[in-house]
Amino acid sequence: MPSENTGRSTWGSRTGFILAAIGSAVGLGNIWRFSYLTYENGGGAFLIPYLVALFTAGIPLLILEFGIGHERIGSAPLAFRKIGKRWEWLGWWPLMFTMFGIVLYYSVVIAWCVDFIFYSINLSWGDDPDKFFFKTFLNLSSSPSEIGRVQVPILGALLAVWLITWVIIIRGVSKGVELANKIFMPLLLILTLILVFWSVNLEGAMIGISAYLKPDFAKLAEPRVWVDAYGQIFFTLSLGFGIMIAYASYMPHNSNMTGSAVVTALANSAFSLLSGFGVFAILGFMSFSQNQPLEEVVAESIGLAFVAYPKAISMIGGAGPLFGMLFFLSLTVAGVSSAVSIVEAFVSGAEDKFGINRKMLATVLCLLGFAGSLLFTTNGGLFWLDIVDHFINNYGLVVAGLLECIVVGWFFNLDIIRKHLNKVSRVQLGTWWNWTIKLFLPLFLAVILLKQLIEELLTAYNDYSWASLISIGWSWIAITLLVSFILAVRPWKTESHLEKGRGDEL
Ligand code: ALA
Repeated sequence: MPSENTGRSTWGSRTGFILAAIGSAVGLGNIWRFSYLTYENGGGAFLIPYLVALFTAGIPLLILEFGIGHERIGSAPLAFRKIGKRWEWLGWWPLMFTMFGIVLYYSVVIAWCVDFIFYSINLSWGDDPDKFFFKTFLNLSSSPSEIGRVQVPILGALLAVWLITWVIIIRGVSKGVELANKIFMPLLLILTLILVFWSVNLEGAMIGISAYLKPDFAKLAEPRVWVDAYGQIFFTLSLGFGIMIAYASYMPHNSNMTGSAVVTALANSAFSLLSGFGVFAILGFMSFSQNQPLEEVVAESIGLAFVAYPKAISMIGGAGPLFGMLFFLSLTVAGVSSAVSIVEAFVSGAEDKFGINRKMLATVLCLLGFAGSLLFTTNGGLFWLDIVDHFINNYGLVVAGLLECIVVGWFFNLDIIRKHLNKVSRVQLGTWWNWTIKLFLPLFLAVILLKQLIEELLTAYNDYSWASLISIGWSWIAITLLVSFILAVRPWKTESHLEKGRGDEL
């Protein structure tokens, strides 16, 4: 549905927009990533830095991204082009490393979930879920250089994931993305409530829940815990992805944008905290049933969903298969709505710049995405996933967020965005917000980045060879950056798009 005055598609309602933004935010990151980070970082101890990160970085940055998209009326490339000609590349780069990076492996993890819905029916993992996941299912090679072949069961599910994504995107903003989220989000909430309720009633659940809720203040002295918390907030709120900018640009003029950002961020974290109860209850149940301390029930963090859960599902008894199917279905639903948002952000950018038809764009992008994700279904796929995920999350997202703050804070009049947001929203932002964007966040993110970089250069990440880290991780960052510069210097289809934003008259 195009709006009369901007010619852009619009959401059918504010609720539709908020649900789509929550759909992008709530994803594998909330259930799979949040749980293992909380587990690794001492349970309840992690919740304090996580909440601090939510309020000091998550909410102010989400407000900024909503503000940029809504005030400049554009996808990330168009919005940054309107901020200044030389900054257009900064709009493209997140789209490049999410569309040709994150979503390639993210769709493969969703495909694993789809396969595990079926494996739950007859508990295919038998009595050794670890061996089943790594040896039988992934058929993992010994290093990233041994790529090997595509694994057929993953391939079939992957095809289904890309097909669903394609169907949703070609239907457009309100009939596709909005409608899908209106179905997916309530469904996900119901599935999660059933799972949490079920888990907390298992024997031993309280052992896990008390570890989840008990803060260990000593942990707060460890910088790693803080780095993980801020990284998780970026990932979970889809910040630095370019998505929230595009989504906000589809909102009509008078829309409560600041309020929407606060609602989205709080709903997303509430969802993580809620599913945390389910995960820790299951861990408590395992600790009780296996007579093992809670810290020892899961050997590898990545296996929390695909090894520990299957183990627990087998132990639940008769209802285990149903529990398993519901769990993997909820991961699939959460994942698909986030994958859709990543592709939509790129479609929106390319539509703005080159004026290409949405159906054609979505088809080409989904075909390219499917082809690219094949790499992650091979015997070496998990190593590639691990390396690409590490570099894009720790450098791509954080650098994009940092640069966003610097460019909008120092090379543009940030007050145009703040005053525009205050004009259309009920929640009013004080000048404290300007200082958070201009000073606090850039400084804080720069410290985190520097710390990471030093650690990176001193010790090879996860003991991979330097050759693999340079040829996969660093190259991925460099190539996506290079292509962004190339896209940024290409001519715009129509210059009329490049008129100013909504708040210029202020
Ligand atoms: N925000 C999405 C997630 O948490 C990417 O999975």
